[in-house]
Amino acid sequence: MKASNVTLLRNARVWTMAAEAPWDAPQECVVVMAGGLIDWLGPLAHLPAAKTAAIEHEFDLGGRAVTPGLIDCHTHLIYAGTRAAEFERRLQGETYESIAQSGGGIRATVAATRQATAASLLADAMRRAQALMNEGVTTVEIKSGYGLEEATERRMLATARTLGQTLPITVKTTALAAHAVPAEYESADAYIDAVIGWLGPWIDDGLVDAVDVFCERIGFSARQTQRVFEAALARGCPVKLHAEQLSWQGGCELASAYGALSCDHLEHLSEAGVHAMASAGTVAVLLPGAYYYLRETQRPPVDLLRRAKVPIAIATDHNPGSSPTLSPLLMLNMAATFFHLTPAEALAGLTCHAATALGLRDRGVIAEGRRADLCVWDVDHPRELTYAFGVNPLHRRVFAGQMP
Ligand code: NIG
Ligand code: FE
Repeated sequence: MKASNVTLLRNARVWTMAAEAPWDAPQECVVVMAGGLIDWLGPLAHLPAAKTAAIEHEFDLGGRAVTPGLIDCHTHLIYAGTRAAEFERRLQGETYESIAQSGGGIRATVAATRQATAASLLADAMRRAQALMNEGVTTVEIKSGYGLEEATERRMLATARTLGQTLPITVKTTALAAHAVPAEYESADAYIDAVIGWLGPWIDDGLVDAVDVFCERIGFSARQTQRVFEAALARGCPVKLHAEQLSWQGGCELASAYGALSCDHLEHLSEAGVHAMASAGTVAVLLPGAYYYLRETQRPPVDLLRRAKVPIAIATDHNPGSSPTLSPLLMLNMAATFFHLTPAEALAGLTCHAATALGLRDRGVIAEGRRADLCVWDVDHPRELTYAFGVNPLHRRVFAGQMP
């Protein structure tokens, strides 16, 4: 096989997810992939002769639906242990916050993760990543945040990088050392001092694509968030934020002022926060799995986000405490049922807007010159991906032009 690997996909019904593309009618076309990118897209009759001559492989998709590969832009995929016993406590009436305040929650996963070897963290994370890939994920963001000490946070970030080098999936890493205050620190401020000291070497070592903070009454204040953001941005590293999940903290106004890529969760987002995000071009990442699993009742202000034209992404937020799901397709359904996104908005949330939330311009829509990361689905129309749940109609997942 030549390095360019020129492949023709025939009989494709393509939903490009570009802003202007029609939702009701697909583009009936062929797709040429070369060198891992989309090289040409259009009706077979218009395929230039020179392109036809270069084709090395051909696949007939039998009229199946093709979309961009799915992008899960918010996960905590690397950790040890489970929190199934905490789930039982919550069923008995304890809350997520009260469990966290009594030393459980994030800190329980931190204790297990500190004990784990890099090999076992990688093995567990690979199984989880494979589950995401089985539903069409081609790019995943992975956060640290269950170490809360230099060595374990670094191990998490390095494991995420290794995962991306081992499996056919792109991994974007996010340093979330400011996830909770570990027991050995007297104050949140003292811990933030330490985190700021760790960030520089991690960034210099190429371990970090973005920096995140859990801005919450059980996490860090807006002022502490600001200190972490300034340290990250001083090193040229973009920022994002867990914001307004359990309470309003003004995190979105702050994050927007720092040009954050995204603000995530947003159940308690204010109107001022929506406008700040709109002006900054910050993506709203909605996480219906955590909303469902914590039995939240306040929904993110989707109408306000829509009206202000804030791009809306959705993600699994896979983590052991508040969203132990590995199903991006279920998130499509939950984004519609709980947050009233249309099926087209939900799919845009797992493709083009998820790419923007990660600062990626080379994917998320199907267009010439973009990466050839695609999903081929056994459905007549991609609205069926949102309509059904517990169903996986993925026929093929194409990663960088490689057919499985
Ligand atoms: O995104 N909100 C903070 N972080 C995670 C939950 C982490 C945990 O409970 O382990 C989230 O929901
Ligand atoms: Fe999260």
